[in-house]
Amino acid sequence: MNDILNSPFISEMAEITSNMYRLGWNERNGGNISVLLGEDEVAPYLDVTRVLRTIPTGFEAPELTGKYFLVTGTGKYFRRVAADPENTLGIVRVADGGRTAELLWGFSDGGKFTSEFPAHMMSHAARLSVDSDNRVIMHCHPTYTLAMNYIHPLDDRSFTHTLWQMCTECIVVFPEGVGVLPWMVCGTNEIGLATAEKMKEYRAVVWGMHGLYCAGKSMEEAFGLVETVEKAAQIFVLTAGKPRVNTIRDPELRALAESFGVSYRADFLD
Ligand code: 13P
Ligand code: ZN
Repeated sequence: MNDILNSPFISEMAEITSNMYRLGWNERNGGNISVLLGEDEVAPYLDVTRVLRTIPTGFEAPELTGKYFLVTGTGKYFRRVAADPENTLGIVRVADGGRTAELLWGFSDGGKFTSEFPAHMMSHAARLSVDSDNRVIMHCHPTYTLAMNYIHPLDDRSFTHTLWQMCTECIVVFPEGVGVLPWMVCGTNEIGLATAEKMKEYRAVVWGMHGLYCAGKSMEEAFGLVETVEKAAQIFVLTAGKPRVNTIRDPELRALAESFGVSYRADFLD
């Protein structure tokens, strides 16, 4: 059996969480990540027949039964993942129609997966239903995206339109737009269901006055999406309240999307 601490998935998780912390997206225990792993990926590092504990999830997700996830722990600090992966991370296999998670590795102090496990699992199911290559759900509290939430209307169309105007790359990186949810109590099945509903349409979902959820085929891709939304939000906040002398106009956004050949939400343009 190989040493799991040298596995590509633990190494990448350590690197990504460290970067997210340093970028100010994940203060204290803020944020969480889950990564879908194939049995072939985990088997060289784990005896998959050895279940350490079973943990109830409080929801059902039959389509995820038997799937393996690397997931951050509740209350764990992103700043500490690289130094203490076995305590801050866990590998679980979804069982019993989604009602239970079988712990195979990690959460060594007796802890468990993130309180946002429902939103993660429901989002995985939603993304997989539209993109079988999706692997990652990433939640964080990026500063400027949050600041923008307080001074901008919270609806999919206008939020997306503003972000697209802030950086030329935006409409190319997230041509489908960004979904926006109102403020809701986090950690619940309700916010999980609402997030998953948006995730059928968008890979990026803003949780009003809380943070951002991003999906991707890899940690790199989800990270890049957060980065791009956050950069656009930063430009918005830095220019908010100042006279707008120049902007990227809708015909220019249209020309950009068409030139890059992306399928974009034309109805989000005026
Ligand atoms: P956890 O520590 O349970 O992952 O919660 C952090 C968070 O960001 C809640 O939305
Ligand atoms: Zn959060």
